[in-house]
Amino acid sequence: MTWIECGPQHLDAIRGIFNEAIVNSTALYDYQPRSAEVMQAWWAAKQKGNHPVIGVVNDEGVLMGFASYGPFRHFPAYKYTVEHSVYVDSRFRGLGLGRQLLERIIQTAETNDFHAMIGVIDASNATSISLHERLGFERCGEMRQVGYKFGRWLDLVLYQKILSGPAAPIDG
Ligand SMILES: CC(C)(COP(=O)(O)OP(=O)(O)OC[C@H]1O[C@@H](n2cnc3c(N)ncnc32)[C@H](O)[C@@H]1OP(=O)(O)O)[C@@H](O)C(=O)NCCC(=O)NCCS
Repeated sequence: MTWIECGPQHLDAIRGIFNEAIVNSTALYDYQPRSAEVMQAWWAAKQKGNHPVIGVVNDEGVLMGFASYGPFRHFPAYKYTVEHSVYVDSRFRGLGLGRQLLERIIQTAETNDFHAMIGVIDASNATSISLHERLGFERCGEMRQVGYKFGRWLDLVLYQKILSGPAAPIDG
């Protein structure tokens, strides 16, 4: 197993992992699987924002999971805050990879001098909620019935972790 920075060659595998979650769960509030074009735009936004996509591959070169972050909201004063995501291929869940990916994306955000990380989690996603709590995220909000999928209303819970940086934050 090898830890990597994902490149465009991993987009198909990332798309597969996203689409499994879209079709089978409420982890993502999409109805339709994402097209290759949507993933190209997703990748371009990561590149433009200089935001990481870290991954883990097995000895056969299969992407087992990935984690990333991007802007929380687009107004400039949110510049020290990121919203992250972590996804493990359904074939490799329950092996500790989600925990390691989340630990690594926290470390990456620390290294890049962000101050707050936000996890936006479907309220029924017990695994993700427990994972975030175990890694020191605190529940900071709940939004009821903001989604509708699979014939039912979906609640969101918000989790945040305050990081130590930056040493000298500035306006503007
Ligand atoms: C959430 C997800 C990333 C977790 O990854 P994973 O590799 O399966 O998780 P891990 O094996 O690292 O386990 C993480 C923790 O959750 C716990 N856990 C596992 N399954 C659980 C469950 N059904 N309910 C509660 N806790 C659970 C584990 O015990 C572990 O805790 P520990 O490290 O203290 O022992 C993975 O399930 C996934 O990709 N799900 C679909 C996409 C998704 O929901 N992403 C998050 C969106 S917010």
